Amino acid sequence: MKNTVTTFLNAKKEGKRLSMLTAYDYSTAKLMDESGIHGILVGDSLGNVVLGYEDTVSVTMEDMIHHGAAVARGAKNALVVIDMPFMSYQTSVYDALVNAGRLMKEGRGNAVKLEGGAEVAPQIKAITQAGIPVMAHLGLTPQSINAFGGFKVQGKTEAAAKKLLEDARQVEAAGAFAVVLECVPAKLAALVTEQLSIPTIGIGAGRGCDGQILVYQDMLAMYADFTPKFVKRYANIGEQMKAAFTAYREEIEEGTFPGPEHEFSISDEVLEKLY
Ligand code: KIV
Repeated sequence: MKNTVTTFLNAKKEGKRLSMLTAYDYSTAKLMDESGIHGILVGDSLGNVVLGYEDTVSVTMEDMIHHGAAVARGAKNALVVIDMPFMSYQTSVYDALVNAGRLMKEGRGNAVKLEGGAEVAPQIKAITQAGIPVMAHLGLTPQSINAFGGFKVQGKTEAAAKKLLEDARQVEAAGAFAVVLECVPAKLAALVTEQLSIPTIGIGAGRGCDGQILVYQDMLAMYADFTPKFVKRYANIGEQMKAAFTAYREEIEEGTFPGPEHEFSISDEVLEKLY
């Protein structure tokens, strides 16, 4: 059965934990879907782990639509959330609405995600009023990396913790159906979770959140450029891929691949006529 925003809201009420992963293509989304993952985020982490940028700032609407549509084709049951890229919603409520609409119409997402608190509440309100579910994102918001001055845990001081709690209330009041908490102290994330009636999805925010999300290349050890403390490696697929690529190269060099079982035949009669 297709997971919807109602599934997410009911999970919160019933105390059921939600699982989310990022994906950027059809076949990976299909595998996640078949594993029963509740939600797939087409994250703008695409910029880092797929496109090889240093940050998410250069990711475009076209990038998100292209990869969002591929994921949507592979996800039959998981709720597909597509990230709104940098400057696709900060500029105005109008831009936010037009771009959220494109992610739904062309990207075929079930919801959009955007970063920020009170300052983007008008955008969240307008998008949700247009019938598009919005997931909010607080704490370490990677699109603001230049303002943060690096990847740092957020909400550690009294003022920052109060602001995070207030932002969480504001995004809920504006209509968000869930909120990602990234790199937030576990006890603060647990407090935010307790105070909201929408689910919190943690990444580096501890066990007290209603759900968890990880970037799949991180949890499968396929991306070694930077591994945050909160990542748990569930498999070493990166090493397995390298071993397979090496074996393939070696077999080509040795002449053992392709073998007879990989070849197509032609009758000798036909072949003789070619000489
Ligand atoms: O872009 C992304 O992958 C994200 C997750 C880290 C939550 O926003």
